[in-house]
Amino acid sequence: MSPVPFDIAAAIRTIPDHPSPGILFRDITTLLGDARAFRRTVDELVQPWAGAKIDKVAGIEARGFIVGGAVAHQLSAGFVPIRKKGKLPWKTVSTTYALEYGTDQIEMHIDAIAPGERVLLVDDLIATGGTAEAAVKLLREMGAVVEAACFIIDLPALGGADKLRALGVPIRTLVSFE
Ligand code: PRP
Ligand code: ADE
Repeated sequence: MSPVPFDIAAAIRTIPDHPSPGILFRDITTLLGDARAFRRTVDELVQPWAGAKIDKVAGIEARGFIVGGAVAHQLSAGFVPIRKKGKLPWKTVSTTYALEYGTDQIEMHIDAIAPGERVLLVDDLIATGGTAEAAVKLLREMGAVVEAACFIIDLPALGGADKLRALGVPIRTLVSFE
């Protein structure tokens, strides 16, 4: 992981007990609203791939769309939305993944990726890694080469980054909150 850029961490607001008691919610809307912090965040996220050939950036709904769209633009790559169940209009592939309580489903269009395309997965935050793991599974099912995954925030205590590394996906995160 790269060193913690102070102004990026400082631009993230923490809201105690949201959405339920005991959760420290890491709110990136304050970062997104700060032009310097947003620019710096996107620059830091793309830095390892600046000269690399990334065909597509895949972003996970909803916050991953905001970050992933900016990253795709910066890398001159296409953008692929990975959406929650029932939102995409065309034929989809989908996978179910475990949440803290129960399960959820994410989907992508069947023609969003051509086999062999090099994909960078982007989201705002990795916690348990369940969502990102499901996204990697879907992308690989479509024949994508998942080059790496990047996130603004890592919650290392929840083990998500290790889960992705165990799948053979290199991971970049900018800020860790214990
Ligand atoms: C948050 C976050 C990641 C996911 C991380 O999204 O943006 O996508 O949780 O959690 P995990 O690593 O434990 O899977 P959320 O599902 O809250 O959706 P949102 O972006 O629509 O708010
Ligand atoms: N998604 C999962 N855990 C989260 C947290 N603590 N803050 C913001 N988004 C999250």
